Amino acid sequence: MSDPNPIHPASPAPDGAALPHTTYSKTLIGQPALVTGANSGIGRATAIGLARAGADVVVNYVTDPQSAEDVAHEITTFGGRAIALPADVSKEDEVVAMFAKAVDHFGTLHIVVSNAGLQRDSPFTQMTLEQWNTVIGVNLTGQFLCTREAARIFKARGVVPGVSVAAGKIICMSSVHQQIPWAGHANYAASKGGVMLLMKSIAQELAPYHIRVNAVAPGAIRTPINQSAWSTPEAYADLMKLVPYKRIGEPDDIAQACAWLASDASDYVTGATLFVDGGMTLYPGFATGG
Ligand code: BGC
Repeated sequence: MSDPNPIHPASPAPDGAALPHTTYSKTLIGQPALVTGANSGIGRATAIGLARAGADVVVNYVTDPQSAEDVAHEITTFGGRAIALPADVSKEDEVVAMFAKAVDHFGTLHIVVSNAGLQRDSPFTQMTLEQWNTVIGVNLTGQFLCTREAARIFKARGVVPGVSVAAGKIICMSSVHQQIPWAGHANYAASKGGVMLLMKSIAQELAPYHIRVNAVAPGAIRTPINQSAWSTPEAYADLMKLVPYKRIGEPDDIAQACAWLASDASDYVTGATLFVDGGMTLYPGFATGG
């Protein structure tokens, strides 16, 4: 079959291949943002995307400081301001200290993208408590700790007229696996299911303070976390059976969604999950069955 989407080849693109250049409107000027896990993958693209939209950005990382410095440096190359700050999001003292440093550096925060996440995959009967705790600790407890700090700052400060009509925007990085069960990844799917109701519950609680809370749920995105699913032509072809739109997602697809949810253009949106998945949640098997 010929490639139905020549812009995004149906075979793995060369290293670092991304979407044809996408643009960002300057909707986030004067709104410092903190992105967790921003030294690689989706977090990296989101930090850069928010900076392109005008935000000053805190680039959080836990390992590989050089990669975080590289992201911060890339932001300065197009005139943005960024600082790299370490913190393991599963550790309360580190999260609290990072948010304090962020506020110290940029004066305040208006946007927090709680993105840091990982996988520790295992057949269920062999899954260790350590694998379970590591994934829940980073993916769910980490989101609790970071969104709580964000909410404290936003609630204490309130709306700043002329900057944004909301008092703050929280974006939780979820996954299609908040909805799609995933054998061999019970810890990961449980963490993302938890993120969904954490997000909705705090959206309900914080709406009266004009703090908006939403989630982005990526499908298969070309990042290191799922490299085995796209790095060979065979794996990529298999992956495409799950993606009606017939291309892998690029990190910038997610960054664009985050920039919109962080901007006043989405001001009436709270408690929502925006699936950015090329149709992965559309039960692709039913296109030819059922
Ligand atoms: C996972 C990836 C996976 C994708 C689609 C993501 O949340 O981290 O490993 O490729 O979901 O299944």
